[in-house]
Amino acid sequence: MSNDRRNETQLLCDILGLESLVDDITSKLLASSASETPSAILGPFYRHNAPLLPNGSSIIQDLDPSVPWYTQAVADSAHVTGRVLSSSGEPIQGAIVDVWHAAPNGLYEQQDEAQPDMNFRGRFMTDAEGRYSFYALRPVSYPIPDDGPSGRLLKLLDRHPYRPGHIHFIVSAPGFRTLTTQLYDDRDHYVTNDAVFAVKDELIVKFVPKEGDPKALWLLEYDFVLGRK
Ligand code: BEZ
Ligand code: FE
Repeated sequence: MSNDRRNETQLLCDILGLESLVDDITSKLLASSASETPSAILGPFYRHNAPLLPNGSSIIQDLDPSVPWYTQAVADSAHVTGRVLSSSGEPIQGAIVDVWHAAPNGLYEQQDEAQPDMNFRGRFMTDAEGRYSFYALRPVSYPIPDDGPSGRLLKLLDRHPYRPGHIHFIVSAPGFRTLTTQLYDDRDHYVTNDAVFAVKDELIVKFVPKEGDPKALWLLEYDFVLGRK
């Protein structure tokens, strides 16, 4: 089942909790301060070299409006912003915030012919106050690919394949340990029952209604705290 768009071995590790277990052990060994943002698994859908975009721009690329989920999805857009800080609270200028999330049909762009290349992906560089800012969709839960051996194993174990709605992040800056993590929408039913065991309480966030912004219905504010190398 594995090819350049799908890694079935990693999926198997994920549903058995292996990737989350390795993340849990490693993050505890590496963390030097309790204020550091917890890490979470990378997952199999990261792509290098997402477009480097100016702060305040959108990772939602134009799609054919006949794609069934497109109009409703764009209406559920969110402004995501915050700062990247050191564990002593200083802003980190020039940090790279690399983000990606799935489409409302549950597919990442490399899984889906209907989506443009690099849709729902982008990299943003923090300003002098350590601030990043972008527009995205409010993420929804999706099933991990379950049409192969991992899916068969899930069925045998009487388990579902869903992950709670989340946005993936890799936050990096010179002199600091790179943080791979995810933020989980607290409205999501699967936040307490993730098929790959990756949710940590500190990573569950609240999207609040945003007024007066024609580009977003929701606001998510989140500061990332990086540990020094
Ligand atoms: C993900 O979050 O993209 C993911 C993680 C583990 C397995 C499948 C997908
Ligand atoms: Fe994901």
